[in-house]
Amino acid sequence: MLSMLLPGSLTSTQQVMCAKQEQFFSRADVAKHKTPEDGIWVTYKDGVYDITDFVQSHPGGAKRIMMAAGGRIDPFWQLYQQHLDTKVIDDVLTPMRIGTLNPDEPKIKDDDDPFANDPTRHPALVVRQAKPFNAETPIELLNDSYLTPNDLWYTRHHHPVPVVDPKEFRLSAKTQTSGSFLTSDMKFDDVASLTLDDIQQKFPKHQVTATMQCGGNRRAGHNSLSKTEGLHWSIGAISTAKFGELLFFFLQFSFSPSLSLTHTH
Ligand code: HEM
Repeated sequence: MLSMLLPGSLTSTQQVMCAKQEQFFSRADVAKHKTPEDGIWVTYKDGVYDITDFVQSHPGGAKRIMMAAGGRIDPFWQLYQQHLDTKVIDDVLTPMRIGTLNPDEPKIKDDDDPFANDPTRHPALVVRQAKPFNAETPIELLNDSYLTPNDLWYTRHHHPVPVVDPKEFRLSAKTQTSGSFLTSDMKFDDVASLTLDDIQQKFPKHQVTATMQCGGNRRAGHNSLSKTEGLHWSIGAISTAKFGELLFFFLQFSFSPSLSLTHTH
């Protein structure tokens, strides 16, 4: 009798019976669950999940995950492909499964891969995640060359690389006060809209040699002591370069005592 209750010891007939007990839902049923009071449900592929208790602890924030409440998470995960990892799907999502979509629900096809336009990267980079692309500078280079070659700079992305037309590009920068370094024909009292030419031509040219490091660099080492969230970076999420123009523009904006940057996008 006991053997009938133990998973793994079920006969195939019993397994079919258990499968039959699985709950089936329509998309309309799922759509009714998008508040903490009614429960928050989402679908992923043909699975239905009750994520009510998970929403507030979602590492990407409650506001973001709530965009999918009552609907499909698939299109969001196509963009945030860091979710397509067994750690997320098996350990976090699967325990919240409450049923399956009715098999007669029409299949929905998602748009093309949002990462299709990402540039080709140097094969020597040490890839930690393919989409979004996150990779380390090869460790051997870190000691051999003070400046990191451009193609081998570590790469940190949360999203696809945006496709930007240099002619259409505008940088909006909102400031609290105006600064003395601005050229006479530019006013920064409120929101400035700069073309790429503006940034490249209208500012004094300076170079800064700077080392940048991802906040998660060496996280893999921490994991050997206690588990941490996020990508398992080794020691190569750090690189050095001589920067000019754009970066200098940002540094000047951010650190100019007479000009404090409140928002850029
Ligand atoms: C049941 C649904 C979801 C689950 C179980 C889930 C789970 C997770 C987990 C475990 C992480 C941490 C991943 C890591 O650090 O490697 C994460 C991060 C994140 N999630 Fe979700 N998520 C869900 C839905 C969503 C939705 C619908 C969105 C967007 C609308 C979203 C956006 C994000 C973002 C932006 C991050 C941070 C990524 C980063 O820092 O690179 N998630 N989520």
